Amino acid sequence: MPELPPLPPLGPEVVDEFTRTIYGRTPPGGELAEVVLRSREDGVLDGTADRLRHRATIRCPLGTLEFDTLLHLPSGVAAAPVVVILNFEGNDETLTSFPYRKIAEAGYAVLTAHYQQIEPDDPNPPAPGVRGLFPAETWGAVAAWAWALSRLLDIASTVDGIDPERAVALGHSRLGKAALWAGVQDERFGLTVSNDSGCCGAALFRHPGGEDIEAITRRFPHWFVPSFAQYAGKEDELPVDQHQLLASIAPRRVYVCSAEDDAWADPDGEYLAVEAARPAFGPGGIGYHIRPGGHALLEEDWMKALAF
Ligand code: GCU
Repeated sequence: MPELPPLPPLGPEVVDEFTRTIYGRTPPGGELAEVVLRSREDGVLDGTADRLRHRATIRCPLGTLEFDTLLHLPSGVAAAPVVVILNFEGNDETLTSFPYRKIAEAGYAVLTAHYQQIEPDDPNPPAPGVRGLFPAETWGAVAAWAWALSRLLDIASTVDGIDPERAVALGHSRLGKAALWAGVQDERFGLTVSNDSGCCGAALFRHPGGEDIEAITRRFPHWFVPSFAQYAGKEDELPVDQHQLLASIAPRRVYVCSAEDDAWADPDGEYLAVEAARPAFGPGGIGYHIRPGGHALLEEDWMKALAF
């Protein structure tokens, strides 16, 4: 493996370099205009949680963005810490794929929205997403999803029963890349969790294995700034590497989850990034696990991350 860029000095310059080279600049603005309660069911999941659905409106410079959220609050908790997470298949699909009951029993609230209601995951989207609501900006879709995690926290902050001072940004795979970028930029997140986030997430570019810049920019050009593709096959010329991304979140906490059979996300490269970032954190500031199995966000991943 080629030598990694040095960990120090960290600071705004390193974050600027990630902005310029990979993710693009997130524009200022985007205000929460309205959060409308659509439904509320108390005592679901055998009385462990209350389930609320909201419709949120965000006012952006060139128009408004509307999307639906699904919130689970742990029953009987006055001010619960909250996990914000985007989902892949729609809010209702999380009712069968997220371990809501176990999460509620652990005392956490979860607020989720469907990622493509924010920004389509398509190099030639049929309709523009939130990026079309800001003038002349160059952010990629990963940055738009990261922006959405911050908006989810804005929404959570308006709801009774949540303690917005204890907020977790969590994401799987491409949305794990977004969670890390949200964690770097939004200091309200006390814990950032990436699950199987791989290339442009927690995995080192300079560690060979799994997806590389050529593959990711060819298949998903809309995720990043267009100029990122010029580093295809030139990983060791990148001015940054992902241990610096993790370290940029310090002193706030980070937890990285890998899976043994998820070679495409390069679990070894994720582990090495965590170890290279570790000196930037205080004791217990960064954690890691690897579990058997493949590319998925499983109950084990949720519960280990929340226990951390
Ligand atoms: C593809 C892509 C990865 C991404 C993953 C996912 O495999 O190459 O970069 O993380 O999709 O989002 O599931």
